[in-house]
Parts: sequence; structure tokens; C-alpha cells
Amino acid sequence: MCGIVGIAGNRPVAERLVSALTRLEYRGYDSAGIATQASGTIMRCRAQGKLENLAIKLGRTPLEGTTGIGHTRWATHGAPTEDNAHPHGTHHVVVVHNGIIENYLQLRADLAADGYRAETETDTEVVALLATREMDNGATPRQAVQSTLAKLRGSYALLFLFKNNDRELIAARRGSPLTLGYGENEMFIGSDALALAPFTRTITYFEDGDWAVITPEGAEIFNDLGLPVERPSRELGAYADLADKFPYPHFMAKEIHEQPETIARAINQFLDMTTGALRPLPSLDFDFTTLPRITAAACGSAYYAGATAKYWFENYAALPFDIDIASEFRYRHPRLTEGGLALMISQSGETADSLAALRHCAANGQHIASVVNVEESTMARESATIFPLLCGAEIGVASTKAFTSQLAVLLCLALKAAQARGTLEPEMLHKRIAALMLLPAALSEALKAEPQLKQVARRLAYFHDVLYLGRGPFYPLALEGALKLKEISYIHAEGYAAGELKHGPIALVEKGTPVIVLAPTDELFDKTLSNLKEVTARGAHVILITDPPGAEIAGGDAAEIIVMPQVDPAIAPIVSAIPLQLLAYHTAVERKLDVDRPRNLAKSVTVE
Ligand code: F6R
Repeated sequence: MCGIVGIAGNRPVAERLVSALTRLEYRGYDSAGIATQASGTIMRCRAQGKLENLAIKLGRTPLEGTTGIGHTRWATHGAPTEDNAHPHGTHHVVVVHNGIIENYLQLRADLAADGYRAETETDTEVVALLATREMDNGATPRQAVQSTLAKLRGSYALLFLFKNNDRELIAARRGSPLTLGYGENEMFIGSDALALAPFTRTITYFEDGDWAVITPEGAEIFNDLGLPVERPSRELGAYADLADKFPYPHFMAKEIHEQPETIARAINQFLDMTTGALRPLPSLDFDFTTLPRITAAACGSAYYAGATAKYWFENYAALPFDIDIASEFRYRHPRLTEGGLALMISQSGETADSLAALRHCAANGQHIASVVNVEESTMARESATIFPLLCGAEIGVASTKAFTSQLAVLLCLALKAAQARGTLEPEMLHKRIAALMLLPAALSEALKAEPQLKQVARRLAYFHDVLYLGRGPFYPLALEGALKLKEISYIHAEGYAAGELKHGPIALVEKGTPVIVLAPTDELFDKTLSNLKEVTARGAHVILITDPPGAEIAGGDAAEIIVMPQVDPAIAPIVSAIPLQLLAYHTAVERKLDVDRPRNLAKSVTVE
């Protein structure tokens, strides 16, 4: 993972590098560093931990220089120490890197045999050492980079800053994203457009295999054969405006509360929210009427959104829908159906495993579409069709508004497919559409449970294990609830299909074990209620998330009841996501944890 940034400028860069890194911190925050160049000397400042630590160090010892590079790290090779923090360098060059050099052990041994010994545990250092060996043998910076790149296996976005060359950066991309920004007599480069947004509105995306020589006046871009290439530039969209968390204490809180609005934006693409008419879809390279199968792949919360959508596509549109965890997908050699649609689901559009799944499907002749938030992302650019989430920048590491927008977009698509295939009675289709129109209001209503959830969280914060149960589409939602709690509160939590409980997990239940049961009154309510009674009988402390009729029926069996508005079963999973998010959020706050930047995580997982 990691975020990288570079400026070839005409005024001091250190502060601007740090400001760009704050916008990339979602990609990792184990350590950070910058290097600048002034009067032929490279200066470097690095710090373990979050970016604040680097800013404090730079406050004490500022770095001069009008050209520089920076890095925020999510450790892959080597502990998150200052020694392993980027930039890594030698007497010739410093380097920052996002990605993984897979053959670094062989390269390291080969370099050591020539007397170039690594001093850190990172894979990145071999890049600096390879370029150095080339330059010691007389190569120019360009030649050194070209011959270094030819030796690397794996993925990288790299920036090189060479000693005695204070006007020039060299950048290279294979597998990890890299964006070039054009300023007034200054050039910028970074892992994404968000990082560059305060400096420029005009950007160019590098293609895989591209490398470039960047000076304040412009960039010469070359492809992997070393031939000069032109890459189109474009103007940045509104997405790139850095979100501000005001007036909330955390981005996650703000993003949870934005959901009535973000969901309305997502739905409005498919549905005229005043008339209830389904809008025509953009031109597609596939036809829902004849589509034999959808093959979806995603990671984490996006996977749970897809797992929920499976119920909608199969029930409403009678369309077979397979969903895989993206990191497993290609390795199980899936049998893809000819003429099928591969549907990728992702907030960032940069998740390495989801991209690999997309490429696998593309290479095997599937139609490619993605449900994605960042419309400038690699996934969006590699998809024939994109269905945007339109929920704005999601900064909190735990996905909230992107998750519910993924659900909303997938539900709308399932209904469009049902309409095209004629698989839902017009009356039923109309009912679902009417429910969707009420969804933003239902989310506002759901948010009103916050004071009660805050109270529940106060107690939950002192437990070590929590179970989440649900049936049907509430099963993937139980998994999502458990993921949300563990990732930001560090409390062990597991989600189970409620009916699976007695096949093993019920052994975990003892007096006081918190069990969160998701059970609005749908066709499976009675069955979930039986499972609720089974854990109550064994002393569990049940927190039931249901609707008013469910509360009436099950009230006596639960220790606490969170009442959500009564809505159509199609949208009930989206409404029930809200209390799960609020519960996780307030539990983490109660435990005084860094909600927006939980330990060991990064927002965008660009490594396998
Ligand atoms: C959990 C979370 C992650 C992401 C996952 C996929 O709160 O945010 O599980 O959902 O890393 O990321 P994207 O959606 O960017 O592909």
C-alpha cells in the first residue's frame, strides 16, 4: 500500500509534501518521510508512527529545497520503524515506493555480492541500490532507472530523486497507481488525484509500464519500451476536494451522518425520486434480458455488499449471481459462463485483489462493470461500464457511506434487471421502487437511535467477544457488523448465519456474552427468533435490532432492543447497517481509540 508524492517546483516543497501526505494517509500511517534536494545535497527526514510525528520533526529541523518526494507507509516488508521508513537512499539517489518488489531477496543477494549491502528490512531499498550500482558504473539517472525497472518483478509506483540534480524527478508505474499534476512552472506527482487537488486541477494518469522525467516545466513520458508517449490530461472532478470533518469529531461520524444524503444521490441515478420512474441505464455492452450470470468479486465490506446483493439479483431478477472474496477468486480457477458479466465492487477502485479479479475476468471474455466510488480509479478506467457510488470522498478507514451506497446501487441494478427480465410482478416492482424512494428518510430515522446505541456501546466496550447473527440478507450484514466492530474497537467479533449457530459457535455463548441479533419482521423472523431464544436460554446478553412489530413480539427475550423504522424487506438491510455502524463507532470512542485510523489498517489495499 503506501502513498507517495513528489514535487518538481520553484519554491520550497517540504510543507507541501507533508500536506499532500495528509491526503494520502488513508493508504497507510505506520511511518512517513520526505526528502528534498538543495544545492546538490539530498536531505531526508523520517519518523515512525503517524504523520504528526514527521511534522513535529520538520518543525524542529526544517528541510530546504524546491524539489522533493514523500511517503506515508503501510508496512509490508520490515517493521514500521524509522529505519524502514521511506525515502530509502544512497550517495546517488533516494526513492519512495508503493507496491511490492517480489524478487527483492534475489536482487538483494546479487547486489550484496557486488558490495551493495542493504541496511533496512524493506523490499524498496533494492531499487535505490540497483540504480546506485548502475550510476557507479557510469549510467545517467535515466539509464539507471530504465535498467533498474527492467530487473524488478512485482508492483510499483516509484519516485527517484537524484543527487546533484535539483530540478528533476523520475517516476515509474507498474501495477500501483500514479497521477501527474500540472502547475504554474511546477509539476506534481502522487498516488492519487486527491493528494494533488490543492495544487492543481489538471492531471494525467500514467498507464502501466510508463515512466517519466519530471521537471518544473513539464514531463516527458515514456512507455515500457522507452518510447515517448502522450497521455491525455483531464480536469479534476469535485471528488478530489478534501473532505472536512467539521462539526464532527471524526470523519467516520460525519460519514455515518451523511448517509441520508449520499444514498439519495446513489439512488437518484437510477430512479427519478419525485416520480418514481426507473431511469434508463447508460449504454451497456451487455443486456440484462439475456445475461446468463453475474460473477462478482470484492474485498471486506464491499464483499459483504455483494453478498447481500446476491439475494436481490437471485430473488428479484432470477439472475444467477456468484460472489467471491477477490483474493480467492482467480486462484480457484473459476469456470466463467460465456457472455457473463463480471461485476467488481469497490470504494477505492484500487484494491489489488479486486483489480486482479477484474483483469482475470477481462482476459476470459467477460463483460466488465464496476460499482465504484472513485471514478478516476484504475478499476473505473479498466471497466467498460461503471456504476458510481457518488458518495464523495470516504476518509474514515472503516467503510460506512460507501457500503450503504454500494448496497443501494446494487439493489437498483437488481431491480433494473428484474424489470428487463420481467421477473417481478409490476405491483411488486412498484412496491420495491416506492421503498427505495423512502430510503433516505428511513436512514434519517435510523440515525435517531444514536443516543441509545451510545449507551449500549458504553457497556459493549468492556467485552472481549461479541457475536452477530442474521438470516438471509441479514447474514452478510451480521458479518459486516462484526467487521466494523473488530476493525475500529479491536474487540473480537464474529458474524454467523443464525441457523448455523447450533453447529458449533453456540459453544462460545456463556452468561453475559453479547449477541447482536438482526431480525426485522420478514419471512425469516420466526426462525431468527428461535435462535435468539436459544442464546438467551444460555445466558447471552441479546441486543436485538428489529422494527416495531419485531420489538413487540421478541421484546421479552432481548436485554436491549434497538428499534428501526418498519420498511420494505428489500431496503431493510440498508437501514440496519446504520445501528451497526453507530455501535462500532461509539464502542471505539468509548475505548478512546483512533477511530479514523485504526491500527494496522489502510484505506486502500493496493497489495495482494
Ligand atoms: C472495512 C473496509 C474494508 C474495505 C475493503 C475493500 O470497513 O473498509 O474492508 O471494504 O478493503 O476496499 P475497496 O472497497 O476500496 O475495494
